[in-house]
Amino acid sequence: MRILQVCAEIFPLLKTGGLADVAGALPPALRAQGADPRVLLPGFGPILAKLEDATEIGRLDPPPAMAGARPRLLQGRLRACGVDAYVLDAPPYYLREGGPYADAAQRPYADNAQRFGLLGWAAAELAQGLDPSWQPQVVHAHDWHAALAPAYLRAAAETDGRTLPGSIYTVHNLAYQGLFEARHFDGLGLPAHFFGMHGLEFHGRLNFMKAGLYYADRITTVSPGYALEIQSPEQGCGLDGVLRERANQLSGILNGVDEAVWNPASDAMLGATYQPGRLAGKARCKLALQQELGLDAELGTPLLCVVSRLTEQKGLHLVLQALPSLLELGTRFALLGSGDAALEDAFRTAAAARPDAVAVRIGYDESFAHRLIAGSDIILVPSRFEPCGLTQLYGLKYGTLPLVRRVGGLADTVNDTRLETIDLDATGFVFDEFSAAGLLGAARRACTLYRRPADWKLVQQRAMRQPVDWQAPAARYLELYRQVAA
Ligand code: ADP
Ligand code: GLC
Repeated sequence: MRILQVCAEIFPLLKTGGLADVAGALPPALRAQGADPRVLLPGFGPILAKLEDATEIGRLDPPPAMAGARPRLLQGRLRACGVDAYVLDAPPYYLREGGPYADAAQRPYADNAQRFGLLGWAAAELAQGLDPSWQPQVVHAHDWHAALAPAYLRAAAETDGRTLPGSIYTVHNLAYQGLFEARHFDGLGLPAHFFGMHGLEFHGRLNFMKAGLYYADRITTVSPGYALEIQSPEQGCGLDGVLRERANQLSGILNGVDEAVWNPASDAMLGATYQPGRLAGKARCKLALQQELGLDAELGTPLLCVVSRLTEQKGLHLVLQALPSLLELGTRFALLGSGDAALEDAFRTAAAARPDAVAVRIGYDESFAHRLIAGSDIILVPSRFEPCGLTQLYGLKYGTLPLVRRVGGLADTVNDTRLETIDLDATGFVFDEFSAAGLLGAARRACTLYRRPADWKLVQQRAMRQPVDWQAPAARYLELYRQVAA
């Protein structure tokens, strides 16, 4: 089965969030099950730099709005990701100062509709045989950046009536839709009638996400819980109607953990490794972390951590509100994150007020994320909404019990600890009400369990033994690919 994955980022070369982790882990997992996946990516600097054995498939002739990109399509190998790749080499579009979606001042690039329109268009060209030596049977597009791929495919099928590869569209986060002024539709080369209520139009604007939701053969999102939630007005971000209409083609497939990257038994970023039956290494990680953070080096108090983008979605103002009470409970707190300036400042201030008990590192640091998760006892993920969430899965794997809000993928992956579940299926702590009080209630239960070392260990080892790898999710994607393949 030949599958073209289309996405804008991929671990470890370019990452702004969990999307990159998924894009980096799914292809090797599919290959392990006998499939033949390739990825198509924009030619951002870090991706081009690591493309090995590159050959030019051809110079491309995109629709007028995107002609300025002067794109070439390269094919090669991204060894760092273990995958064969097509890369859109279009320097005017992708080689810029700043991030993949926005400039250094966080302002989205004015031509994002064209930059990512080109990605979807190129995917559809590959699907129609642009590379004679490899034609996908399925195109799997991820998030709004790739969402025009199914629209271009449909347009091609309508034009010449050929049977083309099937398409899957995965929503990683419905909150980021790729919304543009209507004028950006012109020149994308899509049929005029695609700009309508049953198509890419959304309250008079152009909506990339909606293209994926309308034209893909199947829609998936990254947890069963979120698949249901986004069909409701509260969580549908204005697209719940479309999603309800397509409910029969919509399903949730949980993300996994890439165990080549996140595994405490082999993690080269840690000073000591460990596994469920042998936890001495985890204690060493905790002591080393406390030392690194300038916290008292001792094992008796629970260390809470957060590794997160600092955005409204993640509910971290609840942590700020609860922090004084959390410290009164005898816990210590450490955060690694970046994003919203007000949240960054608030966490910095909290750390300055209690340097003995609170450590905050603003920035993005892959290796520190590993040390922080390994060395902590509890990882907090109090999100307002969470399509899947990966850090709670890393928490499970690392015996750092997740304390999460009961929403989306968090609810699907963490089982609450109550007296009656300790011996049964408890793997963490779950709260319902989106409030500091809700979070604190769960933290109190966590601290109670922490003071009962035998029970703590029981839950911890169960958490670590949860099957969170990519095998099951990859098998489910393959099943869907088979259903839609040309
Ligand atoms: P989202 O994609 O919504 O940000 P996920 O939990 O799915 O949330 O994925 C976040 C990913 O980004 C995880 O791999 C997490 O470890 C990583 N991450 C988030 N913030 C940082 C940071 N400041 N430094 C290093 N890694 C981070
Ligand atoms: C999004 C979501 C996150 C999910 C990730 C990967 O960024 O916010 O919940 O884990 O995509 O699917």
